[in-house]
Amino acid sequence: MINSRLGLMFKFMAPFYDQFIRFTGVDHSRLIPTWLAPVEDREVLDLGGGTGINAAALYRSGARVTIADASPAMLKKAAGKNMQVRLVQALAEDLPLPDSSFDIVLISDAWHHFTDQAGAAAEVARVLRPTGRLYIIDFDPRQKITKTIAFVEGLLAEPATFTSPDELVPMLEQVGITGTYRPLKRGQYIYKGTGTRGQVPCPSSGC
Ligand SMILES: C[S@@+](CC[C@H](N)C(=O)[O-])C[C@H]1O[C@@H](n2cnc3c(N)ncnc32)[C@H](O)[C@@H]1O
Repeated sequence: MINSRLGLMFKFMAPFYDQFIRFTGVDHSRLIPTWLAPVEDREVLDLGGGTGINAAALYRSGARVTIADASPAMLKKAAGKNMQVRLVQALAEDLPLPDSSFDIVLISDAWHHFTDQAGAAAEVARVLRPTGRLYIIDFDPRQKITKTIAFVEGLLAEPATFTSPDELVPMLEQVGITGTYRPLKRGQYIYKGTGTRGQVPCPSSGC
């Protein structure tokens, strides 16, 4: 682990993480390629991608996938899967990846674990191509289920800062990503943003 304070929960969960996610009903991997479409031949960064549940689905749909994750145990599980994806052990706020190298960044159920969310947002904006797309799936702190998850993760000493989607939208606008969100079941939401770097500004007469 990059920072020994982080990630003990994932070290122990890694062997049965996939079964746990399926059991709790928050495995969206079957729908992810449709939600993120088009994905074929796109460079996709699955940030906090863990065991690669979503990466596998994206790979099967023709995307070129990189998983960046802080936990070696979760990445080891991903490495054991039948898929050709690049695995990078890294913190979201310090990605060893080149500028403007991804068409799509996906952050599924990982944003609330990032201890430096402003730093992660800046890194996402840096690695995303100028008009690339960002998707964040996470739990809405205003929902009851999220309070339970926060309590359990607190007991396990796992860092968890849940951001409401209404806070997420302006946070990402600050780094040049404009987006909206819609609710999912089980207290989750999906945010979709688009990079605005490199877009021709509107003339003063309007667009
Ligand atoms: C709940 S898992 C989600 C895994 C996967 N995205 C999914 O949807 O199944 C959260 C992942 O975020 C990773 N993570 C937590 N903090 C991180 C950080 N600062 N940078 C990168 N990854 C981090 C953990 O190691 C873990 O694999």
